[in-house]
Amino acid sequence: MFQRKCLIATALATFISGQINAQTTTDTVAPEAETELTVVFSGLSDAAEAAIATKASGAPVIADDWMIAAANPLAVEAGADVLRDGGTAADALIAVQTVLGLVEPQSSGLGGGAFLVWYDAKTGKLTTLDGRETAPTAVTPTVFQDENGEPLSFFDAVVGGLSVGTPGTPRLMEEAHRRWGRANWSGLFDAAIDHAIQGFVVSERMASSIADDAERLGRFGPTADYFVPNGTPLVAGTTITNQAYGDVLRQIALHGADVMYSGPIAEDIVEAVRNADGNPGLLAMSDLEDYRVIERPAVCVAYRQKDVCGMGPPSSGALTVGQILGMAGQFDLPALGAENPESWRIIGDASRLAFADRGRYMADSDFVPMPTKGLADPFYIEGRANQIEATDKALETVAPGEPAWDHAMLLADDQSIELPSTSHISIVDSYGNALSMTTTIENGFGSRLFVRGFLLNNELTDFSFRTHSDGFPIANRIEPGKRPRSSMAPTIVMENGTPVLVIGSPGGSRIIGYVAQAIIAHVDWGMDVQQAVSMPHLVNRFGTYDVEEGTSAVALVEPLTSLGFEVETRGLNSGLHAISIGDQLKGGADPRREGIALGE
Ligand code: GLY
Repeated sequence: MFQRKCLIATALATFISGQINAQTTTDTVAPEAETELTVVFSGLSDAAEAAIATKASGAPVIADDWMIAAANPLAVEAGADVLRDGGTAADALIAVQTVLGLVEPQSSGLGGGAFLVWYDAKTGKLTTLDGRETAPTAVTPTVFQDENGEPLSFFDAVVGGLSVGTPGTPRLMEEAHRRWGRANWSGLFDAAIDHAIQGFVVSERMASSIADDAERLGRFGPTADYFVPNGTPLVAGTTITNQAYGDVLRQIALHGADVMYSGPIAEDIVEAVRNADGNPGLLAMSDLEDYRVIERPAVCVAYRQKDVCGMGPPSSGALTVGQILGMAGQFDLPALGAENPESWRIIGDASRLAFADRGRYMADSDFVPMPTKGLADPFYIEGRANQIEATDKALETVAPGEPAWDHAMLLADDQSIELPSTSHISIVDSYGNALSMTTTIENGFGSRLFVRGFLLNNELTDFSFRTHSDGFPIANRIEPGKRPRSSMAPTIVMENGTPVLVIGSPGGSRIIGYVAQAIIAHVDWGMDVQQAVSMPHLVNRFGTYDVEEGTSAVALVEPLTSLGFEVETRGLNSGLHAISIGDQLKGGADPRREGIALGE
């Protein structure tokens, strides 16, 4: 084991001027502060060490054969070993996810859910798999309201059993392997089992997440014993084991995902949820036994000469990213450039308009009729963009539009709370398959319930706590068996029927802005994938225009305020992982997190 220090620019140098806009200079752009970040990992290969150095230099990792980008070097190495041995991206995903569940437990794992977008090189087809959590059959519409019908406070709902939906990730891994795997299932768990049993080093990010949440983690015995032993939050650099997790993985390796959905592990999950101290939940064995992964049609929206494809309902990701890009595509962003306030007026108002539609119309379409086709219709999107074209200021009024419906429907605007968490995995394998998967337990550490070495999600708090507004139902209200609306936007960008970019990010509802912006940066402003994921963020979710603090984007605060936006400067903690596919593969990993891209 060793310890390494590297310097990571908190928000990378500039908007990469010159390359993107000959008219702009760096005069308006403040030099970036560099933050010293100690990254502690054990036993990395030379290739992973080189990938960390490449990321710190601001360059993409380049490879010919395969590439993987994810949130933690140990997880990336586990996936890389699978790809190197001739495994597919679907095989590698299992190694990556199971290691992430150990070394980045706050973000995703066996107790959560995920969406997966797959490009199959043999058939040329895109498939999306929905491994989202479901609401227990016993939920009632007012489950997140108090006795006066008022919504519970977010953390009162999150911490404990009430927020726990039926996990989907184990079934999703199995389904992906069944469809597209080549490697032996049981071997794909070896890396995670090995790290869990032999021990791994707690990273800075895991440690600081624990420290920030120590009080909530301390409320439940098993959670406290692991994350806050003897009342002291785990610190970075400590080597810990997780024998219980290793044992669960061994059982999944031997018997498949069924062991998570019936039998003793499932019983322990239900027991923990139903007996959570102070906030018991409603999950039942039958909810676990009935859980199914669902294949859904990919949602694709044209952007420039490309199709931006991703996960449709119950995720709002692909539709909202697609609407933003569809509106932005009506304007000459390449000529305007990345430093021009006019570019950000267009992107900001396209985002506000798209989020207005999202709040009104988007939810689990198996339960609530949705105008999915109408929302993605190019003429509808063009009509929305005309509002932006008709003015040179921020729009004074932003409201949901009237997309074409197959039938009449009246809905009220959404009132969901979404805070950032989650993790994203991008993989291209040596057969030319591409995989984009965003995976989550929702809030950092999910429900805080820790069962057999993994955390249970709090995904049900992605539902609107209110069911109606002004007498109209809210599309994303909770119902038995329904999947909460997500913002996760695992994306594959296609050109002439083949993938050219694999991308996604964590970040709650800001995921949508992070992904849309990185695609614009890559496609319109010519940034390579590392530049595109590193560039400072500006995100508007139909509220304040959030500008990433401590970065060159702060230069845009004053111009955007003058245009009429309400601007706020704040940390914007994305976790973008992207691979561009051309003559070579290029990988980029978000400098705001610990991940890397690795390829050969
Ligand atoms: N829980 C994060 C999301 O699904 O968007």
